[in-house]
Amino acid sequence: LLERLRGELGRWPTSVGLALWGTDNMKRDGAPLAQALALLGAEPRFDTYGRLSGARLLSLEELGRPRVDVIVTASGVFRDLLPLQIRLLADAAWQAASADEPAELNPVRAHALAQVEALGCTLEEAACRVFSNADGAYGANVNQTIEGGTWQETDELADVFVKRKGYAYGRDGRPMAAHAQMRMALGTVEAAYQNLDSVELGVSDVDQYVDALGGLTKAASRESGREIGAFVGDETRGSGVVRSLAEQVSLEARTRTLNPRWYEAMLSHGYQGVREIESRVTTTLGWSATAEAVAPWVYQGIGETFVLDEEMRRRLAELNPDSAARMAGRLVEACDRGFWSPDPETLAALQDAADELEDRLEGIDPEAAA
Ligand code: BEZ
Ligand code: MG
Repeated sequence: LLERLRGELGRWPTSVGLALWGTDNMKRDGAPLAQALALLGAEPRFDTYGRLSGARLLSLEELGRPRVDVIVTASGVFRDLLPLQIRLLADAAWQAASADEPAELNPVRAHALAQVEALGCTLEEAACRVFSNADGAYGANVNQTIEGGTWQETDELADVFVKRKGYAYGRDGRPMAAHAQMRMALGTVEAAYQNLDSVELGVSDVDQYVDALGGLTKAASRESGREIGAFVGDETRGSGVVRSLAEQVSLEARTRTLNPRWYEAMLSHGYQGVREIESRVTTTLGWSATAEAVAPWVYQGIGETFVLDEEMRRRLAELNPDSAARMAGRLVEACDRGFWSPDPETLAALQDAADELEDRLEGIDPEAAA
């Protein structure tokens, strides 16, 4: 990740936003947690019985590079499953924020001191680096907002993310409403990152990645005033690779959404198969809305394959007329929102197809309507 970010930025990153889930940490023995510690320049500390008992801050000499600040946004599942590990991260961040080191080598301290100054909070509060939901709450609601389709500005997606995730979990493990601190911390973020959890589920298969990584990317972009790049770690096979989110979205479009072997297999499931394709189209729009991570050819391919192709449109409408109509509507929405600008003929054909699918839902015979 550091190599990739150094390539992108031409220097060490100062601050990275991490979306941490429970499942990927459980499956990989806490590897994503270890990434967070490594970025900060810390390692787990064990007591004489070998039990995890806190963090040890590496000296800058041992580390051999500047520390990287981490803004962790943990899922509600992570918060529930790994409370001791949240305290471990909070401990590491606190030690980094209190270390007497030069600002240019320790952005954790520099950012925490700036927060104390700007917000009048304590260093302990300003050193909080683990944000999650309030007790008993889950998710950022960014996915649901996108699904609802009634939002106006992408800033609204940043707002729901911060509102839901703006609870800091400090060294005592108790959540504290800390929306202002979170916004200021997000304003320092230079890249957003999440690890893939399974080879079976990509960032387009379920909408929770848009909720977690998309929400984080959008919120950091809004707070910092620049477009933040998003990255995913794929260690589901081989030795692992870091891809940009746009690369991951393109890869999944090629290998799944637009791959006849994938969508024909989906369609063999009938009604639910069409629903799965529809929800991928919504998720794709979510990646545009939160991270500008969708190339035009992805929308073009989806439009041509599932909506503009007459035979396929009829098949989808027969299997699941609601999903078929919503899918076409979603593509029109992508155009309306400026995520995709097809040529005027394609746009007109798309609109006609969407109208036809709506008519069908309302019981109007497409032949007679024509
Ligand atoms: C988690 O393991 O933290 C998680 C799993 C699925 C969706 C969201 C979070
Ligand atoms: Mg869902």
